[in-house]
Amino acid sequence: MTQPAQTTPREFAQKLKDHLPIESIVGEYVPSMVKAGNSFKACCPFHKEKTASFHVNPEHGFYHCFGCQAHGDAIKFVMEMEKIDFMAALELLARKTGLTLPRFQPGEDRSPDEEKKLQSLRDLCTWAETFFVRQLHEHPRGGRAREYLIGRGLTDELIATYRLGYAPDGYEVLLRESERKGWKAETVAEAGLASRRDNGGFLDRFRDRVIFPIADKNGQVVAFAGRILEKLDDVAKYINSAETPLFKKSRLLYGLAAAREAIKTDDRAILMEGYMDWIAMHRRGLRNVLAGMGTALTEEQALMVRRMTKNVTLLYDGDAPGQKAMARSTELLLRQGVEVRAATLPEEHDPDTFLDAQGAQAMRDILSQAPNAVDYLLEKAAQAVNLTRPEGKAEAVGKIAPLLLAIEDPVLREGYAARAAGRLGLRLETLEATLRRRQPRRAEPEAIPRPEEAGEPGFGGDEGESSLEPSRTEQNLLYILLQKRDQWNLLQEIDPEWFPSQVLRSIFEKFSEMLKDVREGGDPPESLFGLCENDREKVWLSRILMLPTQRFDGEVGGFENMLNDAFQLQILKLRRQWIQRRKRELSQDLQMILAGQPVGTGQLDQIHQLSKDNITWHSGLFK
Ligand code: UTP
Ligand code: MN
Repeated sequence: MTQPAQTTPREFAQKLKDHLPIESIVGEYVPSMVKAGNSFKACCPFHKEKTASFHVNPEHGFYHCFGCQAHGDAIKFVMEMEKIDFMAALELLARKTGLTLPRFQPGEDRSPDEEKKLQSLRDLCTWAETFFVRQLHEHPRGGRAREYLIGRGLTDELIATYRLGYAPDGYEVLLRESERKGWKAETVAEAGLASRRDNGGFLDRFRDRVIFPIADKNGQVVAFAGRILEKLDDVAKYINSAETPLFKKSRLLYGLAAAREAIKTDDRAILMEGYMDWIAMHRRGLRNVLAGMGTALTEEQALMVRRMTKNVTLLYDGDAPGQKAMARSTELLLRQGVEVRAATLPEEHDPDTFLDAQGAQAMRDILSQAPNAVDYLLEKAAQAVNLTRPEGKAEAVGKIAPLLLAIEDPVLREGYAARAAGRLGLRLETLEATLRRRQPRRAEPEAIPRPEEAGEPGFGGDEGESSLEPSRTEQNLLYILLQKRDQWNLLQEIDPEWFPSQVLRSIFEKFSEMLKDVREGGDPPESLFGLCENDREKVWLSRILMLPTQRFDGEVGGFENMLNDAFQLQILKLRRQWIQRRKRELSQDLQMILAGQPVGTGQLDQIHQLSKDNITWHSGLFK
C-alpha cells in the first residue's frame, strides 16, 4: 500500500501556525494591539471603531471581533488583510517563517487532495477490518473473544457474516502490522485507530476487545466499536473509533447500509440502542433496524431516517435511561414530521436478551402492537401523577408539552392535544393556552445577536436570564468548563437541560462528548471550533472563550483562584435557575388549569402557597 508522502496544504497550514504565534502575525498588521489578561486586544482592523473590541486569543489561536464578528485563525487573518487566497497566504507566511513551501501536486487543488486522503483512510479501515477478523481466529487470545461471542448466542457463521473481530491485547499490535504494510502511524491515528501517547508516539486504540465494524451509508467500513470481554470497573464497556473525516458519530446510524432496502420495503424503521441488539434483530430476519452510536439521537440522524421513511418504531431498553432516551428521540423525530411508535420490553430486558428468551415471533408481536409514542408517553405521564390534584395535571402537562410542541402539523397537533386534554381531564382551550405560552419562550432567534444588544458578556453576576440570550450564568459555567477539562466527575452531574439556550446547550453537549472520547483514548481535536456545527455556535464559542479578556482586563492575578471558586457556584446557580424556570412554568400551567375549571377560593390559596413553596417540592416533580 502506498502512502501519500506529500504534505497537504492543510497540514502545512498547521505547521505554519505552530511556528508563528497568532499574536505575532496579527501584531505586524495591528501595532496598537495590547496585552489584556490572557489575550490581546486592539481596535478592529476590519471595521471602524473607537473602543477596542477586536481580540486575539493565543491559547486557542484565533481572533474575534465583538463589533463586526470577524473571526478566524492566523491564516484567515492574513488572507483577509492581504486580500489573497489560501495558497497565497501559505506562501507569504512560509517566507516569513523561513519554512520551505512544499511542492504541492501541480495544478491539484484541495479537493482531489482531500479525496485522496479520504480514500487512504477508507483503505486503511478496510484493511483493519480484515486484520481484526483474522486476529479472532489466529491470535493466541482470540479464542477467548470467539468463546465470548458464542456465549452470546452467535455462531461462527454469524461471526463471519457480521465481520466481527478481535483487537489483541497490546499497545502496538495493529500499529506494527499496519506499518509493515506501509502505513504511517500518523495515518493510523487519523483513521481513528491509534491514539497519541504523551511522549509523542502512538498506541493502539482498541486493546483486548471484541470488534464490531461500523459502516457508513454506502457500506464502507469507516470505524469500529470495541467491547470488553468481561466486566471491569472503570473501563468503558464500549468504545468507538475516534472521530475522523470519515466518521462523525452524530451523522451515522449503525446498520444503515444493511437496513436501507428493508426500511424502504416496510416503510418503517426500528430504532434501537445497542450494537448487539442490532445484530440480534438482523440475524433473526428483522432487517429494518438501525442503532445509534452510543449517544442520544441527533437531529441529523433523525433527518437521515426521515429521508427513508415517515414511520419509526423506537425499541429502547426498558430501564429508566432507555425510557428517558425514548422521550427525547420522540421529540426529535416528531420535529422532522415522523410518526413515532414506542415498543416496550419488560423492564429487565433489552432487545438482545428478549429475543434470546422469547424468540423472534414474540418480538414481532411487540412491534406490531407498539402504541403511538405520544399516546404512550402521555399515558406514562398521566399514570405517574395524581390527576385528581391540579398540581398533578400541571406536572403531566409539563412532560407532554414539549412533545406536542414538536408536532408541526397543526391538525395533528390539535388531534394529540385533544387526546392529552381528555386523558388529563383538562379543557382543550386550557391545554392550548399553556402550549401557546410555552412556544415563544422555547424558540431561538435565528440571527446572531449584535454585542450591543447582547449586553455585557458574562461574569456580571446577575440572576436574570433572558429567553433570547444565553444567560450570564450559563456563559460563565461553560467558560469555566472549557478551561478546566479535568473535571470529568462534575461535568457528568450537569444536565444539558440546565442550559436554557439551545446554542450553549449544544456546545456543552458536544464538548462533553469530546471529553468522553478523550477519556476513552481519543485525541483531543485540533481546535474546539471543530466541534461547532454552525456559525452561530462558532460565534458563541469565541465569545465564551473571550470572557475573561473582557472581564479581567488588567487584573490577571486572581484569575486561577476565581476559576476554582466559581465552578461549584456556577453549577449551583445554573441548576437553581433551571429549577426556578420549571417552577415558573409549572405555576403558570397550574394557574391556567385552575382558570379553566370552576375555581374555589381554596384553590386560589393553593396557588398562592405553591408559588411560595420551596425548591425541593418542585424539583422533585421533574425527577
Ligand atoms: P448498554 O449498556 O445497554 O449495552 O448500552 P448493550 O447494548 O446492552 O451491550 P451488551 O449487550 O452489554 O453488549 C447501549 C449502547 O450504548 C453504547 C453502545 O452503543 C451500546 O450498544 N455504550 C454503552 C457506549 O457507547 N459505551 C459504553 O460504555 C456503554
Ligand atoms: Mn445488551
